[in-house]
Amino acid sequence: MRYAVLGTGTGTGGRTIAGKLASPDHEVVIGTRDPQATFARTEPDGYGNPPYSR
Ligand SMILES: NC(=O)c1ccc[n+]([C@@H]2O[C@H](COP(=O)([O-])OP(=O)(O)OC[C@H]3O[C@@H](n4cnc5c(N)ncnc54)[C@H](OP(=O)(O)O)[C@@H]3O)[C@@H](O)[C@H]2O)c1
Repeated sequence: MRYAVLGTGTGTGGRTIAGKLASPDHEVVIGTRDPQATFARTEPDGYGNPPYSR
C-alpha cells in the first residue's frame, strides 16, 4: 500500500502516523512546504519520533 500524510505530515501527529504505517510492504510520503528545512532537522521530536532523512 502507498500512503500520503498531508497537512500534519512533519508535525508530531504526522510523524507518529507515518512511523506506524511505514514498513517494507507500505510506502509513506509526507507533505511539507519546505523539504530542505524538514531534512535539516536533526533532533527527534518530544515523542521519540526520529527526524526525517533522505
Ligand atoms: N501534537 C499533539 O499532541 C496534538 C494533540 C492533539 C491535537 N493536535 C493538533 O493536531 C494538529 C497538528 O499538530 P502537530 O503537533 O502534529 O503538528 P504541528 O507542528 O502543529 O503541524 C505541523 C504541520 O502543519 C503544517 N503547517 C504548519 N503551518 C502551516 C501553514 N501555515 N500552511 C500549511 N501547512 C502548515 C506543517 O507543514 P510544513 O512541514 O510545511 O511546515 C506540518 O506538516 C494541530 O492542529 C494540533 O493542534 C496535536
